[in-house]
Amino acid sequence: MTQLSVKHLLGIKDLTEQDIKLIFETADNFKTIINRPIKKVPSLRDITVANLFFENSTRTRVSFELAQKRLSADIVNFSSSSSSVSKGETLIDTVKNILSMKVDMVVMRHPSPGASIFLSKHIDATIINAGDGTHEHPTQALLDAYSIKESLGEVAGKKVVIVGDILHSRVALSNIYCLQKLGAEIMVCGPSTLIPKYIEQLGVKVEHNLRKALEWCDVANMLRIQMERQDIKYFPSLREYSMQYGLTLPMLESIGKDITIMHPGPINRGVEITSEVADSDYSIILNQVENGVAIRMACMFLLASNQNS
Ligand code: CP
Repeated sequence: MTQLSVKHLLGIKDLTEQDIKLIFETADNFKTIINRPIKKVPSLRDITVANLFFENSTRTRVSFELAQKRLSADIVNFSSSSSSVSKGETLIDTVKNILSMKVDMVVMRHPSPGASIFLSKHIDATIINAGDGTHEHPTQALLDAYSIKESLGEVAGKKVVIVGDILHSRVALSNIYCLQKLGAEIMVCGPSTLIPKYIEQLGVKVEHNLRKALEWCDVANMLRIQMERQDIKYFPSLREYSMQYGLTLPMLESIGKDITIMHPGPINRGVEITSEVADSDYSIILNQVENGVAIRMACMFLLASNQNS
C-alpha cells in the first residue's frame, strides 16, 4: 500500500493498521534524511501550509514547522491571540479568509473537541488535527507508537499503561486507538475521578494503584494533570496526587524490571514524574520529540500525495 485511506488526518480512529504502518515506513525514510548534513528535500515544494493555533503549543507547533521546512513547503503561521479572532471573527470565516490566499493544507490546534472534523466539512483544503480539546491528538499518538517500536522493536504484544489525567487527555484517547490497532494491550491508571466512567468499553484495563500498574507494564506513559481544563477539583491537592501517582526513581527501581518511560510534554517535574526519572536512561521523552518531526513529515507528505492522485 502506498496511499493513506483518508483525505484528512482528523483522528487515529479513522486510520487503518495499514495506514499507520505506511506512516511509520515513510517516517523511517524521513528520519534518515533529517539526520544527514543536508536535511531538506523538495517533496512539498509546491504546497502551502497554514499552521492555525487557537491554543498554546511548544512541541507540536515547532515540530510541524520544522517538518514543513524540511519538506520545502511554504508556511503561514497564525495564532489566535494575535489575530482578528479576538475581534469576534468565527472559525470558518478565519479559515476561509486564510484559504482564499491559496493554502493547500491546514494544521490546526483548537480547544474545542471536533473542531477539525467541523472544519473538514466546510473547506476543501487537507486538514491535520494538531490537538482538538479533550478529543484527539493523532500525530502525538503516532510519534509515541513509533518511539515504542523504535525502542522495543515491536508494538504488538507490548503492555502499555497510560497514567494520570485520562479524563481530559486527547493524548490518552489517540494512544489507545493507535496502540490497540498495532496489537498492544492498554491499561489506564489514575484516581477514579480522572478515569472516564465507561473507558473499559474501549477494551482497556483500569488500575488505580500505580505500583500494580508498573508491575504489569512494559511501557509507562506519564500524563500531565491538565489544570487548564479542570473547572472543579478532581483531587485534594497536587501534593497528594504526586504522592499517589507521581513516578519516582526509587519506586521504578523497586519494580525490578526495565520499564520504558514516556511523556508527551509539557512535563510538570515533581508532580507526575520526578526529574530523576525524566532524565534517566529509562526515559525516551526526547526520542519522542525527535521522532515527532519525521512522523509529521510522513503525514504531510502522504496526505499531499493523496491530494495529487
Ligand atoms: N505534546 C504536546 O502536544 O505538546 P505541546 O502542547 O507543547 O504542543
